[in-house]
Amino acid sequence: MTLTEPTIDLDVRHLSGTIGAEIRGLDVRQLDAETVAAIRQVWLERRVVFFPGQHLDPAEHLAFARHFGEPTEGHPVVPGVPGNPELFEIDYSATGNLYATYGDVASYERGIAWHTDVTFVKRPPLGSILRAVTVPDHGGDTLFADQVAAFAGLSPALQGFLADLTAIHDGTRQFQGILDHVGEGRWEGQGFTALEPVEHPVVRTHPETGERALFVNPGFTARIKELTLNESDALLAYLYAHSVRPEHTVRYHWGAGDIGFWDNRVTQHAVTGDFGDAPRVIQRVTLRGDEPR
Ligand SMILES: [Fe+2]
Repeated sequence: MTLTEPTIDLDVRHLSGTIGAEIRGLDVRQLDAETVAAIRQVWLERRVVFFPGQHLDPAEHLAFARHFGEPTEGHPVVPGVPGNPELFEIDYSATGNLYATYGDVASYERGIAWHTDVTFVKRPPLGSILRAVTVPDHGGDTLFADQVAAFAGLSPALQGFLADLTAIHDGTRQFQGILDHVGEGRWEGQGFTALEPVEHPVVRTHPETGERALFVNPGFTARIKELTLNESDALLAYLYAHSVRPEHTVRYHWGAGDIGFWDNRVTQHAVTGDFGDAPRVIQRVTLRGDEPR
């Protein structure tokens, strides 16, 4: 990867061998263009960056996000915070929560399993910015896995085989129940009432760095198009296990007011379901992405 040297020094602490960094000493309400560029470089290299204890309000959260891209609807199916469709609130413990009532039970009841956000649309998000509002003292960590490192960890023979394959992604299992309940979803300004499966390459090339990354995830990838279903199931099971091996991951424990910003093009994430009934409320702003290639 070739990136130009940062023009300013940031206080950057790496959180694992390959992925994740904490950036300290900034007030992210006040960022000049040089600082934004330096943050973006760290983010591209580390896939996910965290800014502890920022305590932004929703407007400041959105303003921070706009430094790095164009906010889209918070989620294509789950409505945003009332009055603010760009803010998606994540609160799986809430009584009456849409996930709890209409979503896929297996994915919410003990945390959220590994996935890449919203790959079931033609242009999945570029990335997202999380703001920890209420978090448990212990547990509720988020894990992130570096899919560039995962791809690089495969043999050249398997890399070559995967590079020509296409995967079908489908959000029906997790979100059709919620979509039926809310009536209409919205993504990039367009309404829809059904989730149509989409195709993405199994290996995508990062549009900014040129790196190649695995781009399948157990949340939304249904099958590999060119293989028989049995072959696809076996290969995907291997890739899912490989893509989240410990050496490809970082685990972050949230403090109230923390900000986390990940590159959704080259990562998966999961939430540790170890917080029982403790309140855990996080808000997300999602940035518009491009078509994976
Ligand atoms: Fe997610």
